[in-house]
Amino acid sequence: MARGCEFLGTDYAIMGGAMSWISERNLVSAISNAGGFGVIACGAMEPHMLDTEIAETKKRTDKPFGVNLITMHPMLDELIDVCARHEVSHIVLAGGLPPGKAIEKIKGFGAKLVCFAPALALAKKLVRSGVDALVIEGMEAGGHIGPVSTSVLAQEILPELAQELPIFVAGGIGRGTAMLGYLESGAAGVQLGTRFVCATECIAHANFKKAFIRAPARDAIASTQIDPRLPVIPVRALKNKGTEEFNRKQIEVAKLLDAGEIEMGEAQLQIEHFWAGALKRAVIDGDVENGSIMAGQSVGMVKAEEPVADIIATLMQEAATAIEERRAATAA
Ligand SMILES: Cc1cc2nc3c(=O)[nH]c(=O)nc-3n(C[C@H](O)[C@H](O)[C@H](O)COP(=O)(O)O)c2cc1C
Repeated sequence: MARGCEFLGTDYAIMGGAMSWISERNLVSAISNAGGFGVIACGAMEPHMLDTEIAETKKRTDKPFGVNLITMHPMLDELIDVCARHEVSHIVLAGGLPPGKAIEKIKGFGAKLVCFAPALALAKKLVRSGVDALVIEGMEAGGHIGPVSTSVLAQEILPELAQELPIFVAGGIGRGTAMLGYLESGAAGVQLGTRFVCATECIAHANFKKAFIRAPARDAIASTQIDPRLPVIPVRALKNKGTEEFNRKQIEVAKLLDAGEIEMGEAQLQIEHFWAGALKRAVIDGDVENGSIMAGQSVGMVKAEEPVADIIATLMQEAATAIEERRAATAA
């Protein structure tokens, strides 16, 4: 983990993946205080809200943490300015290829830039454009997902690029043994989201946490695309009435498109607003029937509410035990 730790400035190369509504001051500072790397999810926040969130996180930890910004946010420029004022050390850009201007601006104030790479060709492009590290996230993950599994992305991208820059693997990691496997394949570290949702320090509603503790892996399903014209990014969440609601929303938006009442850009925006609202309903209000319970397939390995420090200690212990067992077997 040494390379990842050096890049992040942490004891462990474990990033707490930004989760909208969930990765706020409490969870982020708890992850950083436990030796991992917390990342604030900016999501749809406006600049003044992000400003407060960063300030409040700083009050709770003096350890490094990052900020995740969505590239299609209409106020991306102003959000970067907020991060610059706070001298945020690491920015994670999510949601499509980042505009060159944003890359320049982030690197201009001295932050390290981390981007998501959904395929080898795009990973190479990102390296050329000067990003400092990559996250490769497979379709096992919770939230918005790409089409390829973590294991395949890791096999495609790590051998080609792991020498050039630190790469963090995300999606479906629930145990230290899986973490170890990716580290041994060349990853500098890992990023976990689902595993941190039931942390004691996480502000998610008790109903949201209960749903996680009960759910097996097979309940965390990817949304279906109802209309091929609507380029909807699939979202992995626990199946409930909210899942059906999303299908209805897609039909409604497709009809508006047919009638020429909205353009494609507006259609996509409506879909993204749907998700943001539905996730808030479940995470904050605790409506786990109608809201969206975004969760990755590793949800089946979330068994109890426990402090972040225990979650990280368990992951590290599982990895250490695997190494010890192997050494013992070789020595025997
Ligand atoms: C509830 C939820 C919300 C998420 N929101 C975001 C987000 O706002 N931005 C982002 O880049 N990734 C988001 N993610 C993805 C996580 O940052 C992380 O990469 C992912 O959870 C890792 O896979 P895992 O869930 O299998 O551990 C979200 C994931 C979950 C479960």
